Amino acid sequence: MRYLITGGAGFIGSHLADRLLASSHDASVVLLDNLSTGSYANVEHLEGRASVRLLIGSVTDEALLEEAVREADAIFHLASAVGVKLVLDKPVQSIETIVKGTNAVLALARRYRRPVLIASTSEVYGKSKDLPFREDGDQVMGATDKQRWAYASAKALEEFLALAHFRESRLPVVIARLFNTVGPRQTGSYGMVLPNFCRQALTGQPITVYGDGKQRRCFCHVSDAVGALARLLAQPDARGQVVNVGADREISIGGLAERVKELTRSASAVQYIPYEQAYRDGFEDMERRVPCLEKAARLIGYAPRHSLDDCIRDTAAHQARLLGLTPPETRTEKPPMSAPSRKPPRGRRRK
Ligand SMILES: NC(=O)c1ccc[n+]([C@@H]2O[C@H](COP(=O)([O-])OP(=O)(O)OC[C@H]3O[C@@H](n4cnc5c(N)ncnc54)[C@H](O)[C@@H]3O)[C@@H](O)[C@H]2O)c1
Repeated sequence: MRYLITGGAGFIGSHLADRLLASSHDASVVLLDNLSTGSYANVEHLEGRASVRLLIGSVTDEALLEEAVREADAIFHLASAVGVKLVLDKPVQSIETIVKGTNAVLALARRYRRPVLIASTSEVYGKSKDLPFREDGDQVMGATDKQRWAYASAKALEEFLALAHFRESRLPVVIARLFNTVGPRQTGSYGMVLPNFCRQALTGQPITVYGDGKQRRCFCHVSDAVGALARLLAQPDARGQVVNVGADREISIGGLAERVKELTRSASAVQYIPYEQAYRDGFEDMERRVPCLEKAARLIGYAPRHSLDDCIRDTAAHQARLLGLTPPETRTEKPPMSAPSRKPPRGRRRK
């Protein structure tokens, strides 16, 4: 099989490439990436392999994309503007990357009849409180003047378009709705919580929790997530379906900060920063986000295998390597006297 992975030099894309190459001697991958949030370092270890080709360019470059699609047997479309911070900082470019890029990938997949997986996000459930989130549950979006909803809305449009292609032409397409995915190679530069907490803990900086820290999330190890993506694209019964991919054990963000501190043996304080200070005005966040994983279990026998501690240890070890520090699990010295955690801010509650 020859796979095209758009966003292949990104965090999830690079792990998916590793997984596909390890799955068969015959597998080859083309990684199409503009290196905007991804990096060469993520795929440097694959350099020189005959089965790997890195194309540096944008999914919105139709000629380049067409060449890559034509030569592939199957496509994983992961290229996207990712994360709320990036969407707040570069709103036009972010919406255009998602909508134009996915439109181009789907049109070419249809022209060449290639199976395609679209990476969507749990953000499409928006402010829904109907937990756990089932794939057929309602989307509950905020107002369009709250820029943070642009990411969720653009990714939802991506899903609508993919399903429209399936209905019109039976395009073999599957949509994976990824929940918080974490692990080595994830960068904290675009506001992702776990790499930032690990880096802060490892360097003795305050671990900064936005809001009151009571918001809860479920973290899935990237290794579990890419296994699910590979199996979903190969499963004919998944075609025309939206499928949640993630983990379903919850932890509060305040609790996550404390656990990172413990596992990294850090002396950092946990510091709470009001949303108004962390983001621009009018930021909205969700209290909880828990996937229902029944559909993934039924279609591909999926169940997350890694624990939250695995996620933290692997992310921390990667951050330690980047910082040139001893990995936390091999540290023997005791941390200096622990700084007290500052209490969450009183007053305005999150919506
Ligand atoms: N990491 C998560 O927790 C998470 C959660 C939900 C959904 N997702 C989805 O998974 C996918 C991969 O996300 P990730 O976490 O690996 O982030 P990432 O930023 O590491 O990966 C995205 C990749 O796309 C590339 N890219 C961006 N614009 C491009 C363009 N125009 N042309 C070519 N490449 C482009 C980036 O350089 C990057 O390598 C995205 O579609 C994202 O929406 C991720």
